[in-house]
Amino acid sequence: MAELTLRGVRKRFGTVDAVKAVDLDVRDGEFVVLVGPSGCGKSTLLRMIAGLEEISGGEIKLDGRGLNSVAPRDRDMAMVFQDYALYPHMTVSENLGFALKMRDLPAQAIDAKVREVARMLELEPYLERKPRALSGGQRQRVALGRALIRDPKVFLFDEPLSNLDAKLRVGMRMEIRKLQATLGTTSIYVTHDQIEAMTMADRIVVLKLGEVQQIGTPNEIYQRPVNSFVGTFIGSPPMSLVPAAIGAGNGGAVLDFGEGQQLLLPADRAEAAKRAGVTRVDVGLRAEHIGLAGEDAAGVFVSDIVLLEDHGADSIAVVRLGGREVMARVRPGSVQVGEKARRFAVDLDAIHLFHPETGMRLV
Ligand SMILES: Nc1ncnc2c1ncn2[C@@H]1O[C@H](COP(=O)(O)OP(=O)(O)OP(=O)(O)O)[C@@H](O)[C@H]1O
Ligand SMILES: [Mg+2]
Repeated sequence: MAELTLRGVRKRFGTVDAVKAVDLDVRDGEFVVLVGPSGCGKSTLLRMIAGLEEISGGEIKLDGRGLNSVAPRDRDMAMVFQDYALYPHMTVSENLGFALKMRDLPAQAIDAKVREVARMLELEPYLERKPRALSGGQRQRVALGRALIRDPKVFLFDEPLSNLDAKLRVGMRMEIRKLQATLGTTSIYVTHDQIEAMTMADRIVVLKLGEVQQIGTPNEIYQRPVNSFVGTFIGSPPMSLVPAAIGAGNGGAVLDFGEGQQLLLPADRAEAAKRAGVTRVDVGLRAEHIGLAGEDAAGVFVSDIVLLEDHGADSIAVVRLGGREVMARVRPGSVQVGEKARRFAVDLDAIHLFHPETGMRLV
């Protein structure tokens, strides 16, 4: 069992509130990802959980036991860092076995554990090498191995893959997830990469300026972002945000983007805007909800093709709506850069409306 509870956890560095009153419950065996832009307090929060950073307020508990006065080495957590933090003068085998040696385990038992972990991480051929004679990916696997071998209650990862090239990163993120699922170890993983968060997490915690914006499954966060920050931060390509006025058309309420561009506003969303007392909104549109319009499509606007990005299976066309550039997903070859006045259809039931000042979701 390893359930982690954070209540009102805060960190102040001088006058900087790096982490502001975070509440979080991490379930036993869960893989939780902390994600947010640089400087939002991810590492600070993780280091407070590890005990490497004193907390300025609040409480952290592991299985109901307060950790505030427990030394890092007594917390039964293993942390994996971005820069690997291997001992350069030790071999891979010695690096892996070091924590067990510190626990005074017999040499034979250490050796057996080292071999087991080396096998799991495919490090057997490198056991007698020093870290400098390894590739970045191999070093990262040794760093992982050092955490695994301790069989801790909690794994803490701080951007462990950011020094690897893109392909290796994708492979390693699956490997980490598989290992974690097999071991069932409660894990907290820090990244600024929203794709890593989306693909790895059971639940995501989105942070901004030291504050939790939203906690939810990748699907919840993608489908129902609580505000425009989360909406535009999560998702690739990013959600487009376009201001619009709410007006009356002949078929009901419309979103008026100016420049003659209007879209029908579904009744539930018009109702929500009315409840919120706003006549202007920020409209959030994901690329997959805008495409070339068929003959009798509803929710149509007309735009030139500003730019085209080919992704192989599909293409992202940059088009103009309400004076802003928005992204639409199209079939490769179906439009050309510089083409004039193409018709695009929006899936009106999939649009997000945000408050124009607070950025909060309206429906
Ligand atoms: N030791 C320190 N002294 C003063 N300020 C600090 C210290 N450590 C971090 N900070 C500040 O606290 C805030 C959060 O930093 P933190 O390292 O937790 O961010 P992060 O989300 O991990 O960012 P990154 O993605 O760049 O690693 C930043 O504004 C940072 O400048
Ligand atoms: Mg960091």
